[in-house]
Amino acid sequence: MKIRDLFRAVFPPILFNPIYAATRMAKLRRRTGDAGRYTVDFFEGHAFAWAPLIEQYQPKSYLEVGSLEGMSASFFIRQAGALSELSVHCIDTWEGGVEHLSGGKMEMAMSSVEARFDHNVSKAISAVPNRVRLVKHRDQSHRALACLINQGLENSFDFAYIDGSHQAPDVLIDAVLSFKLVRTGGILVFDDYLWAEEQGHLTDPLRSPKLAIDSFVNVNIRKLEVFYSRSGQLVVRKTSC
Ligand SMILES: C[S@@+](CC[C@H](N)C(=O)[O-])C[C@H]1O[C@@H](n2cnc3c(N)ncnc32)[C@H](O)[C@@H]1O
Repeated sequence: MKIRDLFRAVFPPILFNPIYAATRMAKLRRRTGDAGRYTVDFFEGHAFAWAPLIEQYQPKSYLEVGSLEGMSASFFIRQAGALSELSVHCIDTWEGGVEHLSGGKMEMAMSSVEARFDHNVSKAISAVPNRVRLVKHRDQSHRALACLINQGLENSFDFAYIDGSHQAPDVLIDAVLSFKLVRTGGILVFDDYLWAEEQGHLTDPLRSPKLAIDSFVNVNIRKLEVFYSRSGQLVVRKTSC
């Protein structure tokens, strides 16, 4: 048995190892002042890549697919809300993806997650000098995104973050609909571009985001620029509708 496998057998899965999580939370607190109520960290490692992006594009509107406990939304609010007034739309079922459900690879108790989202995001809003209008959409992302398009918000968002379901068919819908909602010149960030659910020695491309993100990028290649962030996320800038 390799040392890595032994470690995983003792501390399954590592993201929920309280010592590891506590260290990363402390780092986030030092970096952003965010002392929120978090039990997991899927974001701290991206903060260093987001800060210059927010500084450069100064986004005033934010669309997030997959909010969990609000760590990424709070980071966005703290950074961009220091610069201007914001409109923030967060979409989540607050039921977890397949990997968070009982028996999944990242099993997580979802019952109190939404309350922690509310607490953490309201702390972030009260920490910034500018007004923040927050709209929560508790729904499947394809329905919430279609609703926003129906409400006339097409081509309006400055910044979108796609971090909901990690199943390829769902990621493809999130990408296509979010792209409609982002304005020309706006930014879309895809989390977990190279993430794949652990399944022994093989992984299933349909149970990971890459196939969907690549399909979306290739089909729209004349309407976007694509960058790979040093933190492992794919960043797309919309160049035309
Ligand atoms: C990885 S977590 C998001 C982490 C968050 N962006 C952060 O950095 O703090 C993924 C979230 O997506 C949500 N989710 C999964 N599938 C979804 C779907 N089809 N529609 C809406 N939300 C979904 C889950 O409930 C979960 O809260």
